Amino acid sequence: MTALNVKNRTLFTHDNLQVMRGINNETIDLIYLDPPFNSKRNYAAPIGSQAAGAAFSDTWSLDDIKKEWVETLETENKALWAAITAAGYISGESMQAYLTYMAIRLIEMKRILKLTGSIYLHCDPTASHYLKLVMDGLFGKNNFRNEIAWKRATAHNDPKRYGNNSDRLLYYSGGEQATWNGSAVAVPKSLEEIEKAYPLRDDRGRYRAADLTGPSHGSSSGESSQSWSGYDINARGRVWSAPLTGTYAKWIEDNLVPNYRSIKGVHERLDVLDSVGLIHHPQKGRSGWPGLKRYAAADTGNPVQSLFTDISGFTNYNKGKEWTGYPTQKPLRLLERIIKASSNEGNMILDPFCGCATTCIAAEKLNRQWIGIDIEEKASDLVIKRLHKEIYNDALLKGGPLPDVIHRKSPPKRTDADAAIRSPNIKQTLYQKQNGRCAAPCEDGKSVGRALPIDIFEVDHISPRSKGGGDVDSNLQLLCPPCNRKKGNKTMTHLMELLGLNV
Ligand SMILES: C[S@@+](CC[C@H](N)C(=O)[O-])C[C@H]1O[C@@H](n2cnc3c(N)ncnc32)[C@H](O)[C@@H]1O
Ligand SMILES: [Zn+2]
Repeated sequence: MTALNVKNRTLFTHDNLQVMRGINNETIDLIYLDPPFNSKRNYAAPIGSQAAGAAFSDTWSLDDIKKEWVETLETENKALWAAITAAGYISGESMQAYLTYMAIRLIEMKRILKLTGSIYLHCDPTASHYLKLVMDGLFGKNNFRNEIAWKRATAHNDPKRYGNNSDRLLYYSGGEQATWNGSAVAVPKSLEEIEKAYPLRDDRGRYRAADLTGPSHGSSSGESSQSWSGYDINARGRVWSAPLTGTYAKWIEDNLVPNYRSIKGVHERLDVLDSVGLIHHPQKGRSGWPGLKRYAAADTGNPVQSLFTDISGFTNYNKGKEWTGYPTQKPLRLLERIIKASSNEGNMILDPFCGCATTCIAAEKLNRQWIGIDIEEKASDLVIKRLHKEIYNDALLKGGPLPDVIHRKSPPKRTDADAAIRSPNIKQTLYQKQNGRCAAPCEDGKSVGRALPIDIFEVDHISPRSKGGGDVDSNLQLLCPPCNRKKGNKTMTHLMELLGLNV
């Protein structure tokens, strides 16, 4: 693994594509991105708000799309390009332009994300279904974890349809071993839920009586099938089972019985549990079975579900003191949940469309490192102000050191092994190197390639990526379209044979 070449607390005012192209491979633990949604609106912050002057456009046309991006997609990711063009046929040119813009940036995100990392793409139903195809194409369908629906407004009055009040977050992992801290974000049970799940009560509080028996597998002669405390387990055709592993056994050990988990015999465990009042016995004179007291105090809460209804967004009626006036600002609680669930303390979090830096603030609060990128100058002013107000003031008050934000206006330079990465003007460079000719000797009757205008040529990996060919300048060449079709995913040797040349 390579080291990250950007410092903690760096804020870039620049197009994120060039910034991300300058970040080393597999160095980021978590990426949250909240790009413009292709909502065909121009956003502007209200005059007088902290964010006044901030504006960004959310309309797309094919003119916005660089030729170079299309070429990269066409030559290096044919399936993805096919999906994007299909979206163009179905939804129109603007969607095709938007998806191209997104795909070229997501390629970089995939490259810089660690295999243990995760990425959350915040979008809305205008484009979420097309973006999911792009994400599947890049991160792999096996790394898809959830499509979260976030209820951002209580209600919307939309004519002739149901209220459109939710966003989507497409959550993908970098690989199978991605960080997941479900318990860190579990939602505590409501009083009602607690009363229902734990109907009994003693001096220690609410509990329920859980089964202390398990199925008997055939004839068991061990102590687990022998009577304990006058209860004839054999007659019931079951065996004793008192927890030895798991979260409740740990809770018992931490709170009531030191070294509980090292007691091997099941009768001994039952005796110990009984001695500290952890066994619920049926009332005197009544028949029944003893149960393990499971206390509400040990309840770890309910796992968070993929429908987020408990974090409200900012609406005209609900702004609160967190609101900076930045158009499309997201609530801190949403980012805190994502960061807690999918990263650990000290990890590096990147938000390539950071706006008023909600992600950076949340990361700072949770002792993570962060990098923010936004193309708008106004965004950076706001981030710095906001960090000072919400975080550093706090540090000052507590007498702690005041961390510095590094504000950069130019992209970083990669320092990892294949730092000889493709330069943005690679086509021009190759065209000059090849004297304006195809890299294969395809001109009739001569031993040189066809001479053609630069636009016609296609960038090819000399040694195909499927065979381990690197994505570095030295492995790239220009081929004319017929030669590129012939070569396909194969090697130059294969192309030479097809051209009838011995190599
Ligand atoms: C939807 S907003 C993000 C809001 C953010 N999540 C927050 O809570 O404030 C999208 C942001 O992306 C920025 N942006 C648009 N295109 C960009 C690009 N190519 N590179 C970097 N930032 C870009 C815009 O300036 C805008 O601030
Ligand atoms: Zn050729």
